[in-house]
Amino acid sequence: MSRKVLVAYATKMGATAGIAEAIGTELRSHGHQVDVREVGQISRISWYDAVVLGSAVYAHRWRPEAVTFLRHHTKELRDRQVWLFHSGPVGPASDQLQSMPRKVQRLARRIGATPAMTFAGKLTQETAEGFLATRMARTQLAGDFRDWDLISAWAKDIGAAISAIEVSTWHRPGDPASTQKSHT
Ligand SMILES: Cc1cc2nc3c(=O)[nH]c(=O)nc-3n(C[C@H](O)[C@H](O)[C@H](O)COP(=O)(O)O)c2cc1C
Repeated sequence: MSRKVLVAYATKMGATAGIAEAIGTELRSHGHQVDVREVGQISRISWYDAVVLGSAVYAHRWRPEAVTFLRHHTKELRDRQVWLFHSGPVGPASDQLQSMPRKVQRLARRIGATPAMTFAGKLTQETAEGFLATRMARTQLAGDFRDWDLISAWAKDIGAAISAIEVSTWHRPGDPASTQKSHT
C-alpha cells in the first residue's frame, strides 16, 4: 500500500543528505510518495504517514536542527511511524555502532521511536586537514565510508513496514489522528 513518507535530514558537509536521498530512492521503489528534505526547510509534517529522520554526528552530538525538529514535532511524531538514523563513523572504526546522544534518546523515547541506525559517514580531505593534526590520522580517517548496500537494505525493510501501516480512511487526510501507529 502506497504511503506518504518524509525523509528529513540534518547535515553539515552533505554526506547525510546523500544517505537520505538513497533511502528516498529505495522507498519510492516500494511505491511510496516520498519527500526528501533538509530539516530546516520543514514546517509541517501532518501530511505524512511516516517519517525517517537522520542526522550527522559531530562531537557525539546530533546537529541542533535535527534535535529541534524532534522537539517541535514531538506530538505529531508520536502519532506516526518514525525511524531514526545517524551518520558518523569514519576510518577503521566506520563499522562501529554509535549510541544516540542522551538528549536524542529522551526525545526518541517520547515519540516511541526505536534507537537510531548507525551509518558510516564521509570525511573529505579538506575537512580532515582542518581538524586532524597528523598526516597519519588524515590518511586513515578521510574518505567515503558510506555503505550503500546497508543503507538500501535498511530502507527496504522500512519500505515494507510502511506499506503495512494502517491508516483510517474516515479521518481527514493530513489529520494527525488519522494515522494509527503500529510498529511491525
Ligand atoms: C570535527 C568533527 C567531529 C566529528 N565527530 C564525530 C563523532 O563524534 N562521532 C562520529 O561518529 N563521527 C564524527 N565525525 C564524522 C562525521 O560525522 C562524518 O564525517 C559525517 O559523515 C558528516 O556528515 P555530513 O557530511 O552530513 O555533515 C566528526 C567529523 C568532524 C569533522
